[in-house]
Amino acid sequence: MNTTKEFDTVLKETRLFKPLPEFSKNAHISSLKDYERIYKESIEHNESFWGNVAEELHWFKKWKNVLNTKEAPFYKWFEGGKTNIAYNALDRHLTTARKNKIALLWEGEPGDKKSFSYWQLTQEVKKCAHVLKYLGIQKGDRVIIYLPMIPELAICVLACARIGAVHSVIFAGFAADAIKDRIDDCKAKLVITADGGYRRGKVLPLKSTVDEAIKDSATIENVLVIKRKEDAVFPCTLQKNRDHWYHELYHKVSSEHEAEVMDSEDMLFLLYTSGTTGKPKGIMHTTGGYMTYAYLTSKYVFDLHDTDVFWCTADIGWVTGHSYLVYGPLLNGATVLMYEGTPQFPDEGRFWKLIEDYGVTIFYTAPTAIRTFMKWGDEWPKKYNLSSLRLLGTVGEPINPEAWMWYHRIIGNEKCPIVDTWWQTETGGIMLTPLPGAISTKPGSATLPFFGIEPAIYTNDGKETDAGYLVIKNPWPGMLRGIYGDPDRYIKTYWSKWNGIYFPGDGARKDTDGYYWILGRVDDVVNVSGHRIGTSELESIFIEHPAVAESAVIGAHHEVKGQSLIAFVSLRSGQQSTPKLEKELMNLIETKIGKFACPERIIFSADVPKTRSGKIMRRLLRDIAEGRALGNVTTLADPAVIETLKTQYNEE
Ligand code: WT7
Repeated sequence: MNTTKEFDTVLKETRLFKPLPEFSKNAHISSLKDYERIYKESIEHNESFWGNVAEELHWFKKWKNVLNTKEAPFYKWFEGGKTNIAYNALDRHLTTARKNKIALLWEGEPGDKKSFSYWQLTQEVKKCAHVLKYLGIQKGDRVIIYLPMIPELAICVLACARIGAVHSVIFAGFAADAIKDRIDDCKAKLVITADGGYRRGKVLPLKSTVDEAIKDSATIENVLVIKRKEDAVFPCTLQKNRDHWYHELYHKVSSEHEAEVMDSEDMLFLLYTSGTTGKPKGIMHTTGGYMTYAYLTSKYVFDLHDTDVFWCTADIGWVTGHSYLVYGPLLNGATVLMYEGTPQFPDEGRFWKLIEDYGVTIFYTAPTAIRTFMKWGDEWPKKYNLSSLRLLGTVGEPINPEAWMWYHRIIGNEKCPIVDTWWQTETGGIMLTPLPGAISTKPGSATLPFFGIEPAIYTNDGKETDAGYLVIKNPWPGMLRGIYGDPDRYIKTYWSKWNGIYFPGDGARKDTDGYYWILGRVDDVVNVSGHRIGTSELESIFIEHPAVAESAVIGAHHEVKGQSLIAFVSLRSGQQSTPKLEKELMNLIETKIGKFACPERIIFSADVPKTRSGKIMRRLLRDIAEGRALGNVTTLADPAVIETLKTQYNEE
């Protein structure tokens, strides 16, 4: 584990921020005592706890068992129960005072605006459901959604859920090859995309990326295209009999639609994420458990009330957008804000302007964004009135205490609790977090477990300790149900290090108050600006290039991104390291994964350090990249290699 540096920082952190009385007064969970009481109850009577939560939602038919552990780790939640998550997120509110409440506020990067009441959003989703049906999509079919952050993204996600199709959203920054891999893996029948999407003042040609991705597809039958841009920007050509404009079909279909009755364990969505080896894995989430977990975590972690305007800045292409932009807040009848573009368009004040304009009360973003804002300077947020804010949140990577304090002072004006929420694509929802009215916070700590979650820290031998591997000891409703098409990999990756114990892949430390401090990944997964990237994916792309003999990619500490990727590449004999070659290698990553996965630096070297048995010693490469003294080098096959590399790294 690569933790020395992080250890030092967190061990020294002693600041404690008590819940603010003004906040606690109206909070759902308003004291530590309440948290402790409910937590104890949720662990001791786990099934009745979750059963009671699920009762707050609508079920067409009640479940037989809350939890079935017979085929663990293939757990089943709310077995026999029938429900529909889109119905719960929308229709359920239409018989209440929330019918005409705003569900979704949206702003495009160019400044165009839209808003939808719960009733209006329901209508849109029903129409979209019919369009999907018209294109032959049935319950259980996989639908790829590759869209910019426009309302139709949320609408399509909900429409899939409404008809029981499995959505797999791909972040619009991914390249054609990455889309192709995902389509092939899940055998999708339909892709939904747009003619373009606005980012940093430019328009992304999403449709042509899709054309490239599906040109040899054996499974894609149709492409549904949403019109986002002016025709004049660049042309968008539709292939006859395969591609369809959404707005043309939209006008043909009815706005009456009955939600499909789904089994609690029917698949809801697939979301691809990087692992330590091989291709990205399709993380499977199912209906009833995910719904219950997204609902309760949203309610308590963000302390949602009817007067809130909740802005989660994550793209719906990542799990954060699924759980806390779409499903969780809507299940709670909240108002959400969705923004299409980047924070620096037209200038670095855009986010703060959005908060002022919409009166955002809850703001949830990533540490990398916070560090970027810090770098841009306090003058940007100070230009705007941020007094509507009452709660702040972070997710995606460990937050350094300095960034936490800046967030607290400059954005929160020392009046907003900060919830540092630890979770993963696999967990479906937040696992470790303060509850803002109840739990004191410490800058850099994700604090305590959410209800029903039993974490621990293990040594390699599976003994409980206070610094080591983070584990979760019990199942929870939001958990993944598997890796699509690969049950063995599911067991091997998550449940085998210690039999029956969930292993998330993170290192952590627990302090004397029982607070958790996440120290980062312990495997070959790098977290760049909150994006999870498997180093082996990059390595296998590099060696496809004829000039490359070997490569080792590592993550190194980065001031803004948290971590950045550094690639060590050794060339075949006779090959020269030239700027042209470097560019070619970068292009390979850009076209096979996406620009966001390009390494910060490529270091060409004669060799990479290896053990005598031929295993690349990435640990030593990390030492070099982070300027540390080299760790244990006794197992190196050729100690000269590492010395040369070190000199070279520091010279370039
Ligand atoms: C990994 C999961 C789930 C939201 C977005 C990322 C890291 C996430 C925190 C946090 C420290 C965090 C972990 C985790 N992570 N939140 N609050 N503090 N680290 O989802 O792509 O599935 O990545 O992000 O390393 O394993 P993801």
